[in-house]
Amino acid sequence: MDKFVIDGGRELTGTVRVSGAKNAALPALAACLLAPGRSVLSNVPNVMDVRTMRRLLLRLGAGVVSGDGRMTLDVPAALKCEAEYEIVKQMRASYYVLGPLLARFGRARVSLPGGCAIGARPVDLHLRGMEALGARVTIVHGYVQAEARQLRGARVNLAGPHGVSVGATINVMMAATLARGATVIESAAMEPEVAATAELLAAMGARIEGAGTPVISVEGVDGLRPAEHRLVPDRIETGSLMAAVAITRGCVTIEDCRPDHVGAVIDVLRRAGVKIAAGDGMITVEARRRLRPVEIAVAPYPGFPTDMQAQLLALMTVSGGIAAVTETIFENRFMHVPELNRLGADIRLEGNTAIVRGVPALTGAPVMGSDLRAAAALVIAGLAAQGRTEVSRIYHLDRGYENWERKLRKLGARIRRVHQPMPA
Ligand code: EPZ
Repeated sequence: MDKFVIDGGRELTGTVRVSGAKNAALPALAACLLAPGRSVLSNVPNVMDVRTMRRLLLRLGAGVVSGDGRMTLDVPAALKCEAEYEIVKQMRASYYVLGPLLARFGRARVSLPGGCAIGARPVDLHLRGMEALGARVTIVHGYVQAEARQLRGARVNLAGPHGVSVGATINVMMAATLARGATVIESAAMEPEVAATAELLAAMGARIEGAGTPVISVEGVDGLRPAEHRLVPDRIETGSLMAAVAITRGCVTIEDCRPDHVGAVIDVLRRAGVKIAAGDGMITVEARRRLRPVEIAVAPYPGFPTDMQAQLLALMTVSGGIAAVTETIFENRFMHVPELNRLGADIRLEGNTAIVRGVPALTGAPVMGSDLRAAAALVIAGLAAQGRTEVSRIYHLDRGYENWERKLRKLGARIRRVHQPMPA
């Protein structure tokens, strides 16, 4: 297990490039299973979750060659149609193979993922969608079994108790590409990863309209062909870097990003007093003064992303007032709060709202990441904390941030990775 050792208090300056989006890469890799032949993805981030998905595709029988940000997939005429517990428990996004396998082969067996550090995260909406398309879905021995000789287009409403679902929207959209007839997905998630996956599917020959809006229409086709596709930049890495620059009162230009995908983050940071100039594929962030507190509730896109809640909280720990950040999407996404408090932050939870009383400075301490974004938030806090912060369980961060310590070091941070032997 690795940890980061950070000597905080150095402002970040310079330029940095954002990697391809993990959350676009995972569905894109699954989407390639819909067509036999060779598909090529570029701008693929070399992060743990992508490597896990690669392992799953290999187990299903696909050939995968990766290097230099490209992934070449050779998808055979026949695939194994089962995603085992051993992989699904490591990464819930393994669920993305359900739709493509069911649509192409008429059956899929995918382990139920079980619990997760940020909430219960059920998959009922995915299953509701597949059933609406005519699949018979049963749960046996911890596995979801879905079968349908031929999926049929249908009207599907994917609203859940916590609002829309990114994963269910993409999964049902992928399945519908090969269904007979027209599918209309209502209450669809509008996240950029949905539109990006639809773009890949369209390049494969799928007929999709409205991806990126609440209503998506899919006209099923008989078969899809392989395609080449470049992944969109990671909007959460972009936002995380913006927070890192702001907390160190630095000035950095972030390149190869999509400013239009981080509109809500830009808006909130501007309200906090961060200067932001957005151009074509780049954003310059400058923060020289103490930040102002903000009040914000996370919301599905185009709202402020839940995946940026922890990083914003880290930033607000040193604001000049009292901030309030409400989590609305995941019921348990505040595991970083006690860890931030170990760094001298003053955060208390009132239900699903974190009340953050800004302190003049954080002080370094050993802390522990509990999930991907919590780990990023602790790194961000550590960059500003006086003295040394050690962030352990960095494997969480490695799931979704490519070369983060190298990127931050290039911007002037004192951060290094230390290999920690497992306790005996
Ligand atoms: C995606 O997860 C992202 N993961 C998450 O990013 C992100 O936090 C989340 O969307 C919300 O934006 C990937 O893209 C791989 P949802 P997903 O289905 O699709 C409930 C990160 O840090 N729900 O949109 O799994 C669910 O419990 C990760 O990169 C159901 O009730 O999330 C949640 O409350 C973490 N039933 C809400 O909907 C379902 O069948 C939204 O979840 C599915 C979801």
